[in-house]
Amino acid sequence: MKVWRGSLLLILFLSAIVIVACSRGTVSGTSSSGEGVQYSAEVTNGGWFYVNYGCVQCHGLGGRGRDLMPAAGPSLVSTDFKKAFPKGPQFDSALVQMIKNGAIIEKDGVASMPAWNGILTDENMGDIVAYIRAGLPDLGLPIPGTRTGQEIYSSFACSKCHGELGVGGIRNIAASNPEQRTIPKLGGADFRGKFGSPANVRAVILHGSLVDQGRPGVVYMPAWGRIGTAEEIDRIVDYIWNFD
Ligand code: HEC
Ligand code: HEC
Repeated sequence: MKVWRGSLLLILFLSAIVIVACSRGTVSGTSSSGEGVQYSAEVTNGGWFYVNYGCVQCHGLGGRGRDLMPAAGPSLVSTDFKKAFPKGPQFDSALVQMIKNGAIIEKDGVASMPAWNGILTDENMGDIVAYIRAGLPDLGLPIPGTRTGQEIYSSFACSKCHGELGVGGIRNIAASNPEQRTIPKLGGADFRGKFGSPANVRAVILHGSLVDQGRPGVVYMPAWGRIGTAEEIDRIVDYIWNFD
């Protein structure tokens, strides 16, 4: 695996440039000229996670970051990024750690890069790193829509931590407080009683909520204030508020 990786990635990287440059094709791994481009299973799996676990919402299509999105995440293809994380096994593990533990940017105590520990496995995160190393090619995967509250709930990855329909109960085993060892259920009478009004739910979504000050290994509630538009956040709140 390691032996062929370098040259394969070079080929993938060049192919990715071709795809991004000349196609917005919807057929997985196929350029507009119709020439098939083969990606390893790691890269295609990683691409699936990138789109379905909210990474694309903050880091943008093709990992191009802020310049393409009114959003938050840095570029994953810039020269700065490549300098900070040159290719190589130790930097690949550093990227996995970054994804696992997230990163908190101190701004109103806001949580920034979500921590995915226990939500994505090490293997899933390794696949995402392979996808990043391949230059984040457009695999033609449908990007979850951003129209209805339900679609936003899914595309911002709320469902990955809180469950479909907010059923909650996803484990956060490293949290020191036993009550925080499961990711909360959203909606229902207790939830509405606790928050009192949709505006208070909105505030948590905008600012996030740190568990154990975001200690490594602990999953916390990311802040979505700089990612969603006001309208998107409103739709998400309406959607959640009415969960059973
Ligand atoms: C809520 C927005 C948000 C989401 C969702 C998000 N990120 Fe991030 N990510 C950030 C921010 C902000 C930073 C910068 C953190 C810092 O500067 O310390 C970052 C940093 C990173 C870095 C390090 C980049 C660097 O130059 O230091 C990687 C790699 C990364 N994210 C990958 C991912 C992956 C993979 C996913 C999906 C599983 C993801 N991110 C989801 C906001 C996000
Ligand atoms: C990376 C995992 C993760 C993601 C993604 C995530 N959350 Fe959370 N969320 C948490 C955790 C952990 C908590 C508990 C925070 C605490 O105890 O301080 C939480 C708490 C909350 C709360 C407060 C619940 C309560 O009873 O106190 C709301 C509301 C919420 N999240 C909504 C959302 C919405 C909406 C989204 C998508 C925009 C989302 N979350 C995405 C992990 C996540």
